Amino acid sequence: MKIVRSIDELRAQLRGQLRTAFVPTMGNLHEGHLSLMRLARQEGDPVVASIFVNRLQFGPSEDFDKYPRTFEDDAEKLEREGVYVLFAPDEREMYPVPQEFRVSPPATLGGVLEGEFRPGFFTGVTTVVLKLLSCVGPQAAIFGKKDYQQLMIVRQMAQQFALPTRIVAAETVRDGDGLALSSRNGYLSASERAEAPRLYRCLGAVRERLLAARGLADAGGGIGMDLIDELETAAMAQLRGHGWAPDYLSVRRQRDLLPPTADDANSEPLVVLAAARLGATRLIDNLEV
Ligand code: PAF
Repeated sequence: MKIVRSIDELRAQLRGQLRTAFVPTMGNLHEGHLSLMRLARQEGDPVVASIFVNRLQFGPSEDFDKYPRTFEDDAEKLEREGVYVLFAPDEREMYPVPQEFRVSPPATLGGVLEGEFRPGFFTGVTTVVLKLLSCVGPQAAIFGKKDYQQLMIVRQMAQQFALPTRIVAAETVRDGDGLALSSRNGYLSASERAEAPRLYRCLGAVRERLLAARGLADAGGGIGMDLIDELETAAMAQLRGHGWAPDYLSVRRQRDLLPPTADDANSEPLVVLAAARLGATRLIDNLEV
């Protein structure tokens, strides 16, 4: 595996490659990231990964400085996964001058859910993703469903800018107890780690009730607005009752992340998304319905 620090060298390494599959990361790699590398191997060749902790997507009071940086370990893991080039620029390489041109997602998609609680986050993400895609020039790029809204936004950005890159979605990888793998799980104390799978269980309970209601749609049952309200409220109350501070737990349409309407709640594919703080750690997760 070649470790490449500059954009010029990256382009030289990839010259003539037409089927590159790319996985952007911020490092501190776990099994979830490695599953993205494996999917990338099926989607193209060679596989290129990047590690860049992107300051633009962190708010002023967020964890940019303490974000775990584990480069040696990460590079070994990527080598074992058959990654051909690891692009690991420093900030001066990515942002040699202040990044004044930014990509801002529409408020309907980028200003809700995560966007409401992390202002500027998605602008930071789309700006760096567009720049990384421009550096790597991949035919496919892999994004995990764990960051569901990010995946949707990147997909729509690629469509609206006619980028020549297919955006491929990868399933979330979970620990045995259901907790979605995330670099931020490392911040949890032992007792918080034991509590953390509740988020997944709450999402699962909402999904089960929605599926059950949908199963009765033809028999006069079905998912109504009241049921959605009740499920969201009950799940948030359960989290609060166990010491969590939920930002949101919300049933949305997969297509555009808007709330379903009375007319389409039984026909549209749905997704339940949540973000909640446990102690000082903010966790996100989601389940498709
Ligand atoms: O999902 C992430 O790790 C980051 O948001 C990404 C896509 C690498 C952009 O910095």
